Parts: sequence; structure tokens; C-alpha cells
Amino acid sequence: MIRAVSTPNIALIKYWGNRNEPFRLPAADSLSMTLDTPNVEVGIDFADTFSMQSFNPDGTEKNLSTQQMYRIEEHIGLMNTYLGSIGIRVKGNVTLQIHSHIPASVGLASSAAVFSGIARAYSALLDEGLTEQEISVMSRLGSGSASRTTYGGFVSMIVTGDGIGDSYAEQIADEDHWKLSDIILIPNRDEKKVGSTEGHALASTSPYFKQRISDIPTRQAECINAILKKDFEKLQSVSEIDALDMHHVMETSTPVLQYLSAETHRIIDEVKALRSAKHLEVLFTMDAGPTVHLLCTEDAKTEVLAYAKSQTQCTIFETQIGPGSHIL
Ligand code: DP6
Repeated sequence: MIRAVSTPNIALIKYWGNRNEPFRLPAADSLSMTLDTPNVEVGIDFADTFSMQSFNPDGTEKNLSTQQMYRIEEHIGLMNTYLGSIGIRVKGNVTLQIHSHIPASVGLASSAAVFSGIARAYSALLDEGLTEQEISVMSRLGSGSASRTTYGGFVSMIVTGDGIGDSYAEQIADEDHWKLSDIILIPNRDEKKVGSTEGHALASTSPYFKQRISDIPTRQAECINAILKKDFEKLQSVSEIDALDMHHVMETSTPVLQYLSAETHRIIDEVKALRSAKHLEVLFTMDAGPTVHLLCTEDAKTEVLAYAKSQTQCTIFETQIGPGSHIL
């Protein structure tokens, strides 16, 4: 059995909305930082028929819903379709074992870690010399943001056309470029009401979506520049504008998608006050949930962690930049 490991990533320029839903071809580019923890391990082997087992962090077997099983089986099918399009014919099926070290209902999306882990393990099993770009396409076919966890460090996902292979990840800078931390504050442990997959399909119903899509190329370029120059102030302003803009699109969709809670807004306000009082290099960002990610420099970390730990009603996760999906 081939084993791979992967982790979540946190977006700084958000991916929200597709130009082709089944292929998860994004409506615009996006950019993220790959995290070093918590991880998901994926084991894969050839088999006559598709089968899979999933395990909780404590080692007990997890009962997956029919929908979850179907999504994973569909991912294998989509990867085979893509491989066919680049001249690789796959015969037979696979058996999978997924060990998640992401605590249940912790509010951290596991899909990026799971699907990039599956794609990484499958590419090694096939042993066809697939490139990192091809593996990032295979990851994207399971979960759009999974594409970016193919690489470590700071990673963009670009879209170049309408074909199945026309959106993939590119590394902007590796995990040693800039030592940022992501201190994650999880205010509540409820399951998401509307998952990202259904959410993406609603993006274009917002009257602000078109404007968002036309603003992204400039923001993406600014974000890349800020990362390459290690300019925290620029990174903070562009990523906070983009996160709030994505949530504005969500909140003006039909039906309305309200992922942020009163707690999220309270934490944002307190972090803003803390950073101006103490001149801290810290920025906030939120994906599709009330969880607040506080990205900060080494100099700001002690203060940011102290603030996070004072939020006793939140679950806290301390993460750093990680190396991306890889074979064990
Ligand atoms: C808000 O990659 O989770 O986190 O393809 O349906 O799995 P699926 O969507 P997903 O969408 C990510 C949305 C986001 C922003 C981001 O990570 O860029």
C-alpha cells in the first residue's frame, strides 16, 4: 500500500465560485499558505472494486455517509478522466484507507487535506511520472482548494481555460521563505450548514460577484508581491479586503450564506484594537465558517497566542507553514 500525507491550507486570496462546477474550474485565481498541521494520511492500493475505510484521530473507524463515499469514488473517476486526456489509461480500481488527525467538527475543513492526499497517493501508485502540476489538477478534481496543498509554502491556483486540466497550482515561495504562523480560533463546533461545494454554486447569484471576479487579478498580483517582498502590511491589507469581500458575496447570495458569527466579528474587532495598540504584525482571515485565522510574524506570535488563549470558549490551533502533500 502506498501512503501519502497532506494538510489543510489557509487562503489569502479566496477561491469562491466556479466557471465549471463538475470539474471544479474556478471563476478566478486564488492564493494560500500551506499549513504544517493537522494532517491526514491516505493509503491506497489497486483492487478489483472500489472500497474505502476512514479512521478518526483516536483510531476508531468512522462511518462515512453515502454522499461522502460517493464524492471520493467520483474523485477517482474524475482523475481517471483527466489521466485519459493526457494519454494515461488506468485499468481496475482502488482501495483506500484515510486516517484523519483533524479532530471531528473542529471547524477546520479537512477536504483540502483528504483530496490532495488521495491525489498524491494515487499518482505514486500509478507510477507514471506525473508532474507536480498534473498532481495539482488531480487534487483539484476532488476539492478546488486541495490543488494548492500540492506544494508547501505560499501557493497560487491559476485558471487558464475551460478544459479539465486548465486550472492548477503554482508555488510562489517555499516553506522556508517567510516564517509566518497561523493561530486558529474556532468559536463553535457546529457542522457547517452549507458546505463549500453547494456554496460555490451560489456565488454568481450575488450582485457583487462580477465585481469581485474583476478585482481579483490586481489583488492576486499585490498578494504575490507582498509575499515575495515579505511586506506584512501589504499582505494584511490585501488579504483582509479579499476575505471580507468574499463574505460580502456570500451574504448577498440567494439564498444568503452567513458563515461569520457574532463571535467572529467580536474577535476581528479585538484583534484590530490589539494590533494598533501594540503595533503587531497580525492579520485575520476566515474561510467558509466562523473560524478566525490569525496569521502573524515571529515577532507578534507571543502576543497573538496570549490573546488566543484568553478566548477560553474557543478551540485554539497553533500552526506554521508546511511542506504540502508528500509520500511517506
Ligand atoms: C472559502 O475547496 O472547500 O475555503 O471544491 O467544493 O471542496 P470544494 O470547495 P473548497 O472551497 C474553498 C473555499 C474557501 C476559500 C479558499 O480556500 O480559497
